[in-house]
Amino acid sequence: MSADTGAGEADAGARVGVIGAGYVGLVTGVCLASLGHRVVLRDIDEAKVERLNAGDVPIYEPGLEALMAEHRERLEFTESLKRLLDASEIVFIAVDTPPTYSGDADLSRVHRVLDELQATGADARHVLVMKSTVPVGTGERLRAELDARGLDGVGYCSNPEFLKEGAAIADFLEPDRVVIGDFRPEDGDRVEALYAPLGAPIMRTSVPSAEMVKYASNAFLATKISFINEIANVCEEVGADVDVVAEGMGLDKRIGPAFLRPGVGFGGSCFPKDVAALKQLAGNSGYHFQLLTSVIEVNELQKRRVINKLKKHLETLEGRRIALLGLAFKPDTDDIREASSLVLAARLLAEGAHVTAYDPVVNGLGERLAGVEIHSSAEGALAGAHAGVLVTEWRSIVELDWSAVRPSMATPLVIDGRNALDPASMLDAGYVFEGVGRLPEALR
Ligand code: UDX
Repeated sequence: MSADTGAGEADAGARVGVIGAGYVGLVTGVCLASLGHRVVLRDIDEAKVERLNAGDVPIYEPGLEALMAEHRERLEFTESLKRLLDASEIVFIAVDTPPTYSGDADLSRVHRVLDELQATGADARHVLVMKSTVPVGTGERLRAELDARGLDGVGYCSNPEFLKEGAAIADFLEPDRVVIGDFRPEDGDRVEALYAPLGAPIMRTSVPSAEMVKYASNAFLATKISFINEIANVCEEVGADVDVVAEGMGLDKRIGPAFLRPGVGFGGSCFPKDVAALKQLAGNSGYHFQLLTSVIEVNELQKRRVINKLKKHLETLEGRRIALLGLAFKPDTDDIREASSLVLAARLLAEGAHVTAYDPVVNGLGERLAGVEIHSSAEGALAGAHAGVLVTEWRSIVELDWSAVRPSMATPLVIDGRNALDPASMLDAGYVFEGVGRLPEALR
């Protein structure tokens, strides 16, 4: 690493830039500052830069605001790429790479960054580090583009993120591994040095392999979820209890207990997008990734299974009042991207049901689901309902006083879409109760 930090005072940290102060960029920048590096974050959104400079974090991520305040003196927010390049040597790219209609990734923001780097005069001091998830092969194409633009001295590495929303700080500071792909080992060495204070396992590899680790990991985790969801569905048929089955499977070290929780399907900004992108990527290169096709289909069907369970008990959904409890794609986030609640709400409305909903932080599902009646409490959503569906296992919903709520419902039916409620207590409280892959009578 360069000995001259340019920070004036003796400073052991590196000089880092982060382009894009969105979710990934902000977490990366703040965490790197907490490791002792000087970090300049650049965003094109003027209002966002102003908010950040005022110490205000525009996203919901536990612990981020406090960590940012703690390391404020090593953080700078700017709109100027020139300022970022002047002040930094290792430059993370953390801009959006949303899916296009074909399922490919939209790399227009990355290309805009290359235009700007060329115009601003990036040089051999700089190493670009791709944090955003990009299709395998992107790094090689960008390397060629940099060379063609006369930026052959600028380094390029791939360093994928593995951050879970709601636990992003811990995921960054205590990672299972840090993956670094490079074209020149000296560039990878500089990136590796940034992470040295973590003492985490560091894997060095080629750029395409690093890009692939990200997709393969997310696709594997999604496969685990679809797999346990199918096991759950079979358990319902044969009278086995999926939670016990998952526990028994997880004790095998080769399988492990994580990501074996059955439910109403996976959602969020990463899994659905990345699984589809990997399937697409394989398809584009002539390989039909059959397994992923099934993983996606199982997930779609899983979101809809609740509808049949409701019909089994209520006969019809026409005119029935159904309460959805939890709307975010998982607890502790305000994110509803690809959330199972969206599909469930739309299906219920299409069946003629009257849909009520409650979420501790999400207070609307947008215009297309304007028919959903949002309540400010779970009790309010459940009052007069013919059924309640637990969609997201927020702690406050799980810990509701279910006995007290029951008399207010039109029929005491609860479908637990996350196996988060205790079946015996629900039956004792007088509910007709179903979970996923477990038969309440057998649990008594
Ligand atoms: C995920 C990856 O975990 C992370 O490494 C990657 O960088 C981004 O995508 P995130 O989208 O924040 O992170 O959510 P995660 O906690 O992994 O959950 C994803 C979805 O799977 C949620 O809808 C969750 O409810 C569901 N899930 C998870 C299950 O249904 N069962 C499980 O056992 C685990």
